[in-house]
Amino acid sequence: MRKTTLFSCIIKTTLSLVMVGNFCHIYAKEGMWLPPTLKSREADMKKQGLDIPIEQLYNDAGTGLNNAVVLFGRGCTGEIISSKGLVLTNHHCGYGTVQGLSSKEHDYFANGFWAMNNSEELPCGGLTVTFIRRMENVTDRILNGIDDTLSEAARDKVISVRIKNLEKGYKVASGMDAQIKPYYNGNQYWVILSETYRDIRLVGFPPNGIGTFGGDTDNWMWPRHTGDFSMFRVYAGKDNKPADYSKDNKPYQTSQYFTINAGGYKEGDFTMVYGFPGTTMEYISSYQLNQIYSIIDPIRIEARTKRLNAWTNHMTASRDVFLKYTSKRAGVANGWKKWQGEVRGLRLNNVVAKKEAYEKTFQGLAVNDNTLPYADDLLSSMAVKSMAVNDVLSADEYIKEAVYGIEIIPHAAVLDKMLNAMRSANSDTKLRDTLQKIAKQASGFYKNYDAATDMDVFTSLMPLYIQKCNGYIPGAFTKQLQEHGNSYADWCAYVFGSVLTDENKLNALVNSLTMADAEKIQNDPAWQLYHAIVEFRREKITPTVAKYNDDLAYLNRLYMNAQYKLDKTKTFFPDANLTLRLTYGQVQGIDPDGPAGYSFQTNIDEAIAKNNPDVEEFRVPEKLKELNAKKDYGRWQTNNTVPIAFIASNHTSGGNSGSPVLNAKGELIGTNFDRIWEGTMSDLYFDTNLCRNISLDVRYTLFVIEKFGGAGWLLKEMNIVGLENKKR
Ligand code: ARG
Ligand code: GLU
Repeated sequence: MRKTTLFSCIIKTTLSLVMVGNFCHIYAKEGMWLPPTLKSREADMKKQGLDIPIEQLYNDAGTGLNNAVVLFGRGCTGEIISSKGLVLTNHHCGYGTVQGLSSKEHDYFANGFWAMNNSEELPCGGLTVTFIRRMENVTDRILNGIDDTLSEAARDKVISVRIKNLEKGYKVASGMDAQIKPYYNGNQYWVILSETYRDIRLVGFPPNGIGTFGGDTDNWMWPRHTGDFSMFRVYAGKDNKPADYSKDNKPYQTSQYFTINAGGYKEGDFTMVYGFPGTTMEYISSYQLNQIYSIIDPIRIEARTKRLNAWTNHMTASRDVFLKYTSKRAGVANGWKKWQGEVRGLRLNNVVAKKEAYEKTFQGLAVNDNTLPYADDLLSSMAVKSMAVNDVLSADEYIKEAVYGIEIIPHAAVLDKMLNAMRSANSDTKLRDTLQKIAKQASGFYKNYDAATDMDVFTSLMPLYIQKCNGYIPGAFTKQLQEHGNSYADWCAYVFGSVLTDENKLNALVNSLTMADAEKIQNDPAWQLYHAIVEFRREKITPTVAKYNDDLAYLNRLYMNAQYKLDKTKTFFPDANLTLRLTYGQVQGIDPDGPAGYSFQTNIDEAIAKNNPDVEEFRVPEKLKELNAKKDYGRWQTNNTVPIAFIASNHTSGGNSGSPVLNAKGELIGTNFDRIWEGTMSDLYFDTNLCRNISLDVRYTLFVIEKFGGAGWLLKEMNIVGLENKKR
């Protein structure tokens, strides 16, 4: 890897540091902007390098590039890269879907998948892709006449009716889906008009040796060598509109797709990320931040470390268990590692203290202001409220991460449903019918379940919960444990005598149940735990937590409003809420530990050098090694190698996975897939000096498709520029 010292001078020249009292704001890059509000950012974006009119990114006529950005599934982003509905997203965004299409015979994780023509593209039942066509500010219509200080409950009552009615009106008028969402903690409302396509097919998926290369070890880390992409295609009915799957559907036709620029970029170049960031909390108080930092995150990390250890042991020992758990594991491990980075970043950068300093300044402004009488008391109210719930929050987190981390316990919800059906049944034949339906719905669980693995999770997580939850333990738990001589192993063996460990046992039970058999379920040990914990939470925990959340929603809404109105030194952007945003920054390396730091870019030679056949995460596929040995890079060669990934100072979050990364002209130069560890705290506190998003270089994507996957036919439908001086 080349080292760089360039970044430090770039930071100095591109950032404008503004100091006002205790406020220290870096204006350059923080922010995730709503597309229709970009006009107000235009001057700044142009200054930083934007080379196209804002209207090309979004316009009310409906011809903007927003039409080429999609919400992929329920929590990722994708981009349209051809007139035939070809979607590029991350490998990890397609992972769950591909697991559903994989089997021992078709192991797409080991071998990859490449359709060689349209007819080979694989339907992905349940997967959807949503286009955002238009957004309008409807704040006045939602909040008209409502006093800011009205309680959350009273306010919600009025607002929810207005939202429903207005959504209905927009739906009828536009013929599209309409959803109204709150921004700025409920101080603003926007309607989002969208179309959701539901016939989506798998087109290309590199094997894990490329797509998850580096695995959990490298996850959230820089430097990075993961070819984290996959490709899908949107299919539409005859009218080019959303339709259920049919073999007669046609690829979705569009004139709004991204031009790909394979000509590269340099450090300092302007970049944008267009996508769906999920959740940020940039404006919370130091009290709430402290809860996340010192209670919530540490519990999650502690419990997940144990769960992941148990899973990994079994996954390493059996390919069957690996296939069952790989997607689940990726999800659980992803949060686990992110929160570690978050805690570390918050600690090393004294973020709680920085918030406290900000609060002092805010308090000064509040006291001197007489337009917002409520502002003076906000912070002290937040302090009192948060202090009062720390114990309960902590217990609840242990329940969610430890008790519900034992899969058989939440799965016992299925027995609960059956019990309810028995209570309301009026004939045994009808009951049988209902029970079979319930059992069928639950059968998906068993495709990805291994009871022996779950038993190890039980003996590891139960002691953690019992010992650390401040005595918030349901009687049934204590009773079962005592009846087994306080031995967790014996208790575990007893619980896993449940019918739930095995689909056949569950079905056998279903076929034997009559209306009079409630006891058979009530005697099931896993059901007993499930039932006990649900009831316990309902009585002892949820009311307190719900009240706290309500109080906090109220205070945070007013606090947001007061910061917005009183702090004139800051430009406020709304926290992420899984709606379409654009963020901009620069290609920029980072040096977290010393003067000689990381380059802004990685390449294939570094990936090959990391090859380790003994470690699954670092096993480079043979064919990639061969291509590298022969330097068979085709048009994607740059400086005698192929770039893999690069970092930039765009403010992104979870949900931005798969987002298009654009150059100053709005052309695609990469696909966002991660952030660096030092900067994962950016969901709570963005620091331009530390926070970087990680993107896959589009040249590596194209190289893998063409040279590794042999799927060069796909390149013909793309519009690729920047190759003027390259031979094929
Ligand atoms: N950290 C990235 C994100 O937040 C990638 C996750 C997938 N990779 C993994 N090894 N689990 O989604
Ligand atoms: N990998 C993340 C995702 O799935 C995006 C990276 C991030 O959180 O910044 O959304």
